Amino acid sequence: MVHRSLMVWIAFWTLLLISVSVNNVSTATLSPMPPFSAMFVFGDSLVDNGNNNYLASFAKANYVPYGIDTSWGPTGRFSNGKMLVDLLGELFGHPYLPSFAAAQIQGRNITWGVNYASAAAGILDETGRNLGARITFNQQVQNFQTTVTQLKTTMDDMNLSQYLAKSLAIVNHGSNDYINNYLLSGLYSSSFLYDPKTYADILIQQYKTQIQRLHDLGLRKFLLAGVGPLGCIPNQISKGLFPSGMCVDDVNAMVGIFNDRLRSLVDELNTQYNGSSIFVYGNTYAALTQIIQDPIAYGFVVTGRACCGVGSFQGRISCLPYSIPCRNRDQYVFWDVFHPSEAVNKILAQRAFNGSSSDCYPVNVSQMALLF
Ligand SMILES: *[C@@H]1O[C@H](CO)[C@@H](O)[C@H](O)[C@H]1NC(C)=O
Ligand SMILES: *[C@@H]1O[C@H](CO)[C@@H](O)[C@H](O)[C@H]1NC(C)=O
Ligand SMILES: *[C@@H]1O[C@H](CO)[C@@H](O)[C@H](O)[C@H]1NC(C)=O
Ligand SMILES: *[C@@H]1O[C@H](CO)[C@@H](O)[C@H](O)[C@H]1NC(C)=O
Ligand SMILES: *[C@@H]1O[C@H](CO)[C@@H](O)[C@H](O)[C@H]1NC(C)=O
Repeated sequence: MVHRSLMVWIAFWTLLLISVSVNNVSTATLSPMPPFSAMFVFGDSLVDNGNNNYLASFAKANYVPYGIDTSWGPTGRFSNGKMLVDLLGELFGHPYLPSFAAAQIQGRNITWGVNYASAAAGILDETGRNLGARITFNQQVQNFQTTVTQLKTTMDDMNLSQYLAKSLAIVNHGSNDYINNYLLSGLYSSSFLYDPKTYADILIQQYKTQIQRLHDLGLRKFLLAGVGPLGCIPNQISKGLFPSGMCVDDVNAMVGIFNDRLRSLVDELNTQYNGSSIFVYGNTYAALTQIIQDPIAYGFVVTGRACCGVGSFQGRISCLPYSIPCRNRDQYVFWDVFHPSEAVNKILAQRAFNGSSSDCYPVNVSQMALLF
């Protein structure tokens, strides 16, 4: 007996020493100080990591089978696995961010940044009201101000302004201003009041104001994600009495107008701040379109149907609690009728990280990290 427990004792220490030395090697060779001091995320359900869990909203994902491919289970992420912002953070060696709600309610550590995103939210305050409570972009900016005030208690002004200037701000807004506003003409007046070009101008004008407020609060590095090809999501494809299963071209055209203006805004802001700040347009539209047009090349099999939830002729039936999702989730472009699968998010994160200028314009996020 004594002999055996001694063996276990020796084995235990040997393993411990091996794991310590492996850790030392990996920290020495693989993970230098992450280049961004923190990440601050603003947006909608494509990046919400749990803020809506605390709201009276129909737009929630804190139930099974969401999170089915993670060790942590359902968290409020609208994905079978990790989201683009989780994966991009991983590529830079950052820990996962707390949601603003968790930081406020549970006192989670905000040193590495905060996620303010809220499902159903949009650039316009009215957007998403059909789904109940949500944290609008305006309110997300205000919540960031709360965080800055909180950080001021732990850093002096010089250190705080450096910390914020070296942080990465990610903004993913605009989809709901179409899906949960302009395209719901029974519930919103925007499509009666404005043609698609005027509407895109109104959105971009608001967006610019909000970005400038974030800049005034100290952020300097912005990744502004464009809107994806909404005409190709199962929710839109399945609309109408006799859905053709094809992408809806006029929806994609509308989104295209918004994206063109967002890209121009990036040029305008980069000129305005002339090297003291960097604004980058993330071309998720092009990346997703390429995947949808040639799925096999990227390892996908199913493009027009969701892995979880069915595209009824109303196209509204999402992934309900205890739905049984498909088994081969990595072969589906869409996890539910609105959101891409983790397999797609991995491609998008990789392209944001070190893609070409057609993925990230004018520079990719690795390059953003090296600037000032
Ligand atoms: C938060 O985490 C950082 C390191 O990641 C640590 O230095 C800091 O003390 C922590 N703050 C609180 C309030 O626990
Ligand atoms: C500010 O940063 C400097 C150097 O990085 C450090 O020595 C100092 O303690 C910091 N001050 C505060 C209040 O954090
Ligand atoms: C922008 O900065 C460059 C050098 O960094 C300078 O040569 C140029 O004059 C500046 N342009 C404006 C409009 O301030
Ligand atoms: C991009 O990153 C991946 C690994 O994350 C690497 O395999 C690839 O070579 C990189 N490409 C460029 C152009 O840096
Ligand atoms: C993207 O970033 C990497 C650095 O990580 C850089 O080497 C590469 O040139 C960039 N890609 C393009 C096409 O700009």
